[in-house]
Amino acid sequence: MKGQLLTKIDNRTAKVAIIGLGYVGLPLAVAFAENGFHVVGIDVDQSKVEALNRGESYVRDVPSARLAPLVTVDKGVAAGTFRATMDYGALDDCDAAIVCVPTPLSKTKDPDMSYILAATDAIAQHLHSGMLVVLESTTYPGTTEELILPRLQHAHGCTYEVGQDFFLAFSPERIDPGRVDYTVENTPKVIGGITPDCLEIASALYGEAIEHIVPVSSTDAAEMVKLLENTFRAVNIALVNEVAIMCDKLGLNVWEVVEAAATKPYGFMKFTPGPGVGGHCIPLDPYYLAWKLKTLNYNARFIQLAGEINTFMPYYVVEKVGNALNEVRKAVRGSRVLLLGVTYKPNISDLRESPALDIIRLLEERGAIVSYHDPFVPHLKLDGEMRSSVMLDEGTLAAADCVVVTTDHDAYDWPWILGRAELVVDTRNATDGLRGQARVVRL
Ligand SMILES: NC(=O)c1ccc[n+]([C@@H]2O[C@H](COP(=O)([O-])OP(=O)(O)OC[C@H]3O[C@@H](n4cnc5c(N)ncnc54)[C@H](O)[C@@H]3O)[C@@H](O)[C@H]2O)c1
Repeated sequence: MKGQLLTKIDNRTAKVAIIGLGYVGLPLAVAFAENGFHVVGIDVDQSKVEALNRGESYVRDVPSARLAPLVTVDKGVAAGTFRATMDYGALDDCDAAIVCVPTPLSKTKDPDMSYILAATDAIAQHLHSGMLVVLESTTYPGTTEELILPRLQHAHGCTYEVGQDFFLAFSPERIDPGRVDYTVENTPKVIGGITPDCLEIASALYGEAIEHIVPVSSTDAAEMVKLLENTFRAVNIALVNEVAIMCDKLGLNVWEVVEAAATKPYGFMKFTPGPGVGGHCIPLDPYYLAWKLKTLNYNARFIQLAGEINTFMPYYVVEKVGNALNEVRKAVRGSRVLLLGVTYKPNISDLRESPALDIIRLLEERGAIVSYHDPFVPHLKLDGEMRSSVMLDEGTLAAADCVVVTTDHDAYDWPWILGRAELVVDTRNATDGLRGQARVVRL
């Protein structure tokens, strides 16, 4: 089985299924397809499947112009190397299945494994000899071995031996949406296998599309690598956010302090403060690790503290807005507050866990009349209510009692904005060094 699969990978006749075609799965599917593999994308979202089969991408990092030539067109005659389907039956014909489904948290911040389990059970129904299965979804150490392996070993009433009849590995995804210097292809890929042969086969497959492979000794180690990376970010962001609060109390400019510290050529890595953390990774992933440690009677203290500080930041921003309005003799209640940028980071359209959404809620709870502008988010649904991005013109800026810079998209013309707004609370230091009529309060 191993030899056959390695040969198929080597001559690129192996068929690859990518399960879950979101921010992670779609770029990966395109990377394999562009490297000559026949790729089937499986997703439960019919609208995504239909869009992809029309050659239309909904992920900014994969422009439609890149996707379209790969898609099967012309009445089912294969003209490219990618097609999407909702039918897991497509796995019957595939040599590898790579799982990229969501791993959210429950309301109590426990791992929600339902997507991984649903995908695994669906794969199990179509598991066949000589198949490679890889999990990419971020999850706690032990998931691949404890949760997925038993389900595949006893799939559809048969017994499959891992490392012999089928191969199982974990490889964390490190994609940073919106980033152009590091992409799927040139970001080193960590891989851990259940057995050495699992690792070898998974490494061979990824090695056809990705420049640098980093093998580790087990699936548990590979799972932990991802959680270390994202916990490191969560903790350091929390640290610099707390330093921002400390600097405020000390009458210091945190941005000046951070920039100066960053001139140290070694031993310091620059993180910048902001209104909180967002996206599908940093606010969630550390809790997967904390949950696992809780089952071992260990309290992951850094994760707990970082979560507290980062979650507090929207409250801190709202306090800043209240103080800034107070300085110009206005109350939060009844004031018109305009948020610039609602995504969790600049130049992308991803709203997941964005702290701007919390800031909108908190300001409205305090009676402010809140609107937003975001060139990437024409509409958004918050607590069941649809809202639309307002026009960003002189009238809108002049009418706002306070403008809050929540996301520093490149498209914003800060001198123009400062020339027309009255009061600006800048949580990103986007207006650093600029002057205008606006009174500016920085984090
Ligand atoms: N977004 C990121 O920046 C990023 C980076 C690294 C790792 N990750 C991890 O990758 C995983 C996927 O994240 P994402 O951002 O791509 O999520 P996403 O929500 O953008 O995409 C997930 C896709 O899976 C589909 N799906 C859900 N259940 C399914 C099922 N049973 N079968 C088939 N498809 C199913 C959804 O319809 C969706 O299209 C998560 O574990 C996340 O933590 C994300």
